Amino acid sequence: MAGAAETASDLETLRRAAADCTGCELYRNAEQTVFGRGPAPARLMLIGEQPGDREDRAGEPFVGPAGRLLDRALTEAGIRRDEVYLTNAVKHFSFEQRGERRIHQTPTAAQIRACRPWLDAELRVVAPAALGVLGATAAQALLGRTFRVTRQRGQMIDWEGHAVVATVHPSAVLRAPPERRAELFDGFVEDLKVLAAALQ
Ligand code: URA
Repeated sequence: MAGAAETASDLETLRRAAADCTGCELYRNAEQTVFGRGPAPARLMLIGEQPGDREDRAGEPFVGPAGRLLDRALTEAGIRRDEVYLTNAVKHFSFEQRGERRIHQTPTAAQIRACRPWLDAELRVVAPAALGVLGATAAQALLGRTFRVTRQRGQMIDWEGHAVVATVHPSAVLRAPPERRAELFDGFVEDLKVLAAALQ
């Protein structure tokens, strides 16, 4: 597994290798590996947490409700989705089955660590100038456990030669009480605009 992650020089080879990943236990219950999508190279990469229920079934990141909100925010920030490489810190859906429903579970530190070679491989192949980190799990995966999205969101950070901006996860906007959603959405768009400016 780590072999391909370290040596492959194109996304298709990586995607095929990741499809058979057994690096942590999440592969047992998920439908499939949901690898990143988008062009390579790409000037901008966005990193989410993990695929949700819809993404697990479709095999593509950000195709469910969080993805639709992300699409709207990208449009408002003046970023074209087809120019963005979209991926997740963890590439299998982590959930707890409750009756018919599959309830999202935050991935553990060990699961995030196990998936890191795939994220590193995507960074190598996609070689983005700028990186958007969506939510605490992605921030932890990329920037370490001491990074706090609440304190450092919307700030441009130089990380290993990439311009990085951390922001909230689109699901946090969806889960907010209705009266707070517009404000949170606007803040999310503002953070994405910082990323857009880094690409000018
Ligand atoms: N949430 C994520 O973090 N990633 C997805 O792909 C979908 C929802």
